[in-house]
Amino acid sequence: MPHTIHATQPIQGQKPGTSGLRKKVAVFQQPHFLENFVQAIFLAVPELKGGTLILGGDGRYLNEIALQTILKMAAANGVARLLVGQHGLLSTPAASHLIRLHQAVGGIILSASHNPGGPQGDFGIKFNAGNGGPAPEKLTDAIYAATLQVHEYHLSNAPDIDLAVVGEVEFAGMRVSVVDPVADYAVLMQQLLDFDAIRAWIAAGHTLRLDALHAVGGPYAIRLFEDMLGAPMNSVRNAAPQPDFAGGHPDPNPVYCADLVDTMQGRGAPDFGAAFDGDADRNMILGRDFVLTPSDSLAVLAANAALIPQFKGRLTGVARSMPTSRAVDSVAKALGIDCYETPTGWKFFGNLLDAGRIQLCGEESYGTGADHVREKDGIWAALAWLNLVAVRKQSVAQIVQAHWAQFGRHFYSRHDYEGLSVAAGDVVLATLRSKLPGLVNTLVAGLCVTLADDFAYTDSVDGSLSQQQGIRIEFAGGSRVVFRLSGTGTEGATLRVYLEHYTAEVSEQAQETQSALKAVIAAAEELAGIYANTGRTVADVVT
Ligand code: G1P
Ligand code: ZN
Repeated sequence: MPHTIHATQPIQGQKPGTSGLRKKVAVFQQPHFLENFVQAIFLAVPELKGGTLILGGDGRYLNEIALQTILKMAAANGVARLLVGQHGLLSTPAASHLIRLHQAVGGIILSASHNPGGPQGDFGIKFNAGNGGPAPEKLTDAIYAATLQVHEYHLSNAPDIDLAVVGEVEFAGMRVSVVDPVADYAVLMQQLLDFDAIRAWIAAGHTLRLDALHAVGGPYAIRLFEDMLGAPMNSVRNAAPQPDFAGGHPDPNPVYCADLVDTMQGRGAPDFGAAFDGDADRNMILGRDFVLTPSDSLAVLAANAALIPQFKGRLTGVARSMPTSRAVDSVAKALGIDCYETPTGWKFFGNLLDAGRIQLCGEESYGTGADHVREKDGIWAALAWLNLVAVRKQSVAQIVQAHWAQFGRHFYSRHDYEGLSVAAGDVVLATLRSKLPGLVNTLVAGLCVTLADDFAYTDSVDGSLSQQQGIRIEFAGGSRVVFRLSGTGTEGATLRVYLEHYTAEVSEQAQETQSALKAVIAAAEELAGIYANTGRTVADVVT
């Protein structure tokens, strides 16, 4: 008997969110909890039987234990071929690439992205479909429905596989390849970007500082930036993945990477900096004395697409998530290409990428990506920026300032109010919704409202409608505030307030961001009554 069927009642009814199922480690440690969800995946995706599955994770606490369980369940559920990253590691974009490269039915990725790890931290599991992207809503709904029905699960009783050894093994009737997590991804990067220009730029003595935040990006960054592109040893810091990310918060933004921001200040600072999140799909880019916003990153990459081999002569469309600043819209207009505004979350880009309507996309939440995979891609974003810096022979700051001078600057900031009660979060949104009718043409904190709605999106490829995706308030002159509740948190509610202010005047573009946003911040408070509804006077995280 190659496997046993466990009839012990699994924990039923686990609803995956936009980024899969994300919970505290202790929740995942309950008996049969993980198994219920994994069995539900096999039920919802019957093609996995006899098919190929990609498997890996960001190395966080529980990663290897959960992988061994999933390997045994995959064998018992009839998966024919499984590729798993050595030591159980795969960055999210590398997993997406492997799914596509091997025409797999899909992939199971173990990650809670930028959320802290360790025994007290978070764990997560998500299923990516055959296009390499996050499961579409239809599929997550089917997985959820299956979690309600699972009464037993299939598990091989074969011993654990040694994930330290690269190679092929036969495992309870399934062919398993333990693969170098970086190799295929590195080949892909080399095909997309101007490695010769980057190599020459580094050889000329320019310096890099990359921070992997003790997460899965480390091995990728070492191989690409140091081994292949010639950056000196130690250009990549915190490169060894740790189960608890050394106690840190593996989220690349100026708040959680304050030390990197410091390192990038002043004479003698490195020329180029970047950081990546837990599963290496997010990125933050810095130059000497310069911190780039993700919204500007997207706009500048679009404007310079002709300098990046991947896009040269083939950029027909771009997309941004709704709360992302409208900087890229101006570029699309100037280039005469399409520009899509989608709800928050990478999966909405998937259809547009699959249909060839866009080749480049991004989110304000430090996510940038393109059509080479179906996930955002942190390492790729840093390489694409280095490509620009090397070809233009200008610093990050010079490139962005020239961009603002041409297109105007969209000042941008996100204010997060974390750990609110779910009720308080709901009250803020309900308050805003109640004010929407009749708001247009009124003055809020001195700003004239030109648009006020609850963002709804019709997917132009499959016609599906997504409603209530965030409150959008636009003001005359190009300011805007957006409100939404986080869909990825594991505790209480997080209110996100997205603030934007546009100026074409070069003399105004050097202002400090929060002061440039003063009027919009006041309008946000007046509209949402954040203090009255939550008791909070200041945001917990300002990025
Ligand atoms: C957050 C970001 C969103 C991103 C998601 C997954 O979601 O805001 O842009 O797609 O993480 O990385 P949120 O917590 O806002 O729902
Ligand atoms: Zn991530």
